[in-house]
Amino acid sequence: MFKGLFQKPVHSMPSEVTMDTGGLDMTNIPQHIAIIMDGNGRWAKAQGKVRTFGHKAGAETLKTIVRAADSLGIKAITAYAFSTENWKRPVTEVHFIMELLSRYLTSEIQEFKENNVKVRFMGSREGLPAIVNEKMDHAIEETKNDTGIILNLAINYGGQAEILHAVRSIAAQAAKGELNPEDIDAALFEDNLYSKGLPAPDLLIRTGGDMRVSNFLLWQIAYSEIWTTSVFWPDFTPDMLVEAIKVFQKRERRYGGLIQK
Ligand code: IPE
Ligand code: IPE
Ligand code: MG
Repeated sequence: MFKGLFQKPVHSMPSEVTMDTGGLDMTNIPQHIAIIMDGNGRWAKAQGKVRTFGHKAGAETLKTIVRAADSLGIKAITAYAFSTENWKRPVTEVHFIMELLSRYLTSEIQEFKENNVKVRFMGSREGLPAIVNEKMDHAIEETKNDTGIILNLAINYGGQAEILHAVRSIAAQAAKGELNPEDIDAALFEDNLYSKGLPAPDLLIRTGGDMRVSNFLLWQIAYSEIWTTSVFWPDFTPDMLVEAIKVFQKRERRYGGLIQK
């Protein structure tokens, strides 16, 4: 599905990311991995630190995992950074996360460009601080010609909000007479989602031990394989990513059909 969309990266990722790829089938690497990066707060608390300390550490983990993913040949990572429900948290924590996002998008631009990482986003831009919106636009603009791994950050993202957004936009087109209700099919619907143009995730990873989807990618994960770990996100390592992919490679994806043996 990604054929033609991606060319060989111009630069390879820094060699500082090391992982044991023994036993990994390099011909069956998931193209798109979605990650619910959960457990930052508990990770910090376990060390007697404030929750925000965990968010800072979590941002570092994301950098490492994107590098590792790229060197494994993964074509896209969709990372859940802030949900539409996370606004319910104390204002100090929300402010910290917004500032962290803004700083991350500034400090990483050079690294993204050097490593051919293309940044995109999913979620509602409404309600985000102006500075975050500016940094998001800047990151898109600066990396628009990059042809390597896609880093798709879900910020102010909710699966239900995304579906409602798509429904509203389709309904508006129908009301204007631009399309007939009979024309609404899965492909048209997907073209109205934030994830337009990205194939569905092959693998969904959730760290932090909870067994729920938390309003992430409700449409797109219809047939994604799911892998969870009780490890908190700041402790997630490239070796754990390899482990998740190894489990993925043992799964039989049937899509509701039968595999002839
Ligand atoms: C995930 O970690 C990051 C965000 C939701 C922004 P949490 O902050 O949810 O950490 P826990 O789950 O409370 O430990
Ligand atoms: C999901 O984690 C959101 C992100 C990782 C950004 P939450 O911590 O918000 O999910 P719940 O509250 O445990 O379901
Ligand atoms: Mg959480």
